Amino acid sequence: MSVISDVYPVLGLRITAGSLELRGLTDGDLAALGVLAQGGVHPPERMPFYHPWTDMPVEQIPLGMAQYHWGVRARFSPAAWSLELGVWVDGELVGCQGFGTSDYLVTRTGETGSWLGIEHQGSGIGTRMRQAMCAFVFDHLDADEVTSGAFLDNPASIAVSHKVGYADNGISRKKRRDGEMAEHLALRLTPETFVRGEPIEVEGAAAVRRLIGL
Ligand SMILES: CC(C)(COP(=O)(O)OP(=O)(O)OC[C@H]1O[C@@H](n2cnc3c(N)ncnc32)[C@H](O)[C@@H]1OP(=O)(O)O)[C@@H](O)C(=O)NCCC(=O)NCCS
Repeated sequence: MSVISDVYPVLGLRITAGSLELRGLTDGDLAALGVLAQGGVHPPERMPFYHPWTDMPVEQIPLGMAQYHWGVRARFSPAAWSLELGVWVDGELVGCQGFGTSDYLVTRTGETGSWLGIEHQGSGIGTRMRQAMCAFVFDHLDADEVTSGAFLDNPASIAVSHKVGYADNGISRKKRRDGEMAEHLALRLTPETFVRGEPIEVEGAAAVRRLIGL
């Protein structure tokens, strides 16, 4: 009998690093992730995201969250894909860690993006989950480079990137919220400068490799 993780192997992917676990998000997990985001991701006067999804009315966040992740699944193809994994610490869902790319079979690069529920920030989880994702793509998906980016007024995200070994890769001016310009720092990581964290253990990588055409 076939199960949904045979159809969409991201749901069978599990990366563990000590008490930290990254894995594909089921529909039940998406409901829990929406409630986590409703509890807050950043102070309301700040905006760390290009697409300001946290500005939507709080009661609409769970459906918006689920629709975003359903869209990621629906568009997944070897030409363009995004791994959006839930993050658990000691079994508690705390946030989301992504790696998105296009033309990966040629470029071997992709961009990390992440968020944590506000009560889980500032205790090192953001660094650990980024290290786990980078270790996974370098060691199991044959990546040559990982990029990231953050607005200059997001010191926590930039600090995580620097701690993990990313180098600054240029500042650009971007539109953020309507009518607002914000300066943005691009960052770039290669295996040579990667600062590893706890060793990772991985289940389900072979099926994900086949899914993305490796
Ligand atoms: C960005 C994010 C994922 C980082 O995760 P985290 O668990 O808070 O990060 P960590 O605790 O691992 O590390 C944060 C680092 O930022 C540093 N930092 C935080 N605020 C800072 C500030 N105002 N100035 C300088 N450094 C700062 C911390 O000191 C820490 O570095 P240290 O361990 O060397 O002291 C998390 O804060 C988050 O979800 N933020 C809201 C969403 C977001 O910004 N997503 C990224 C979009 S690009």
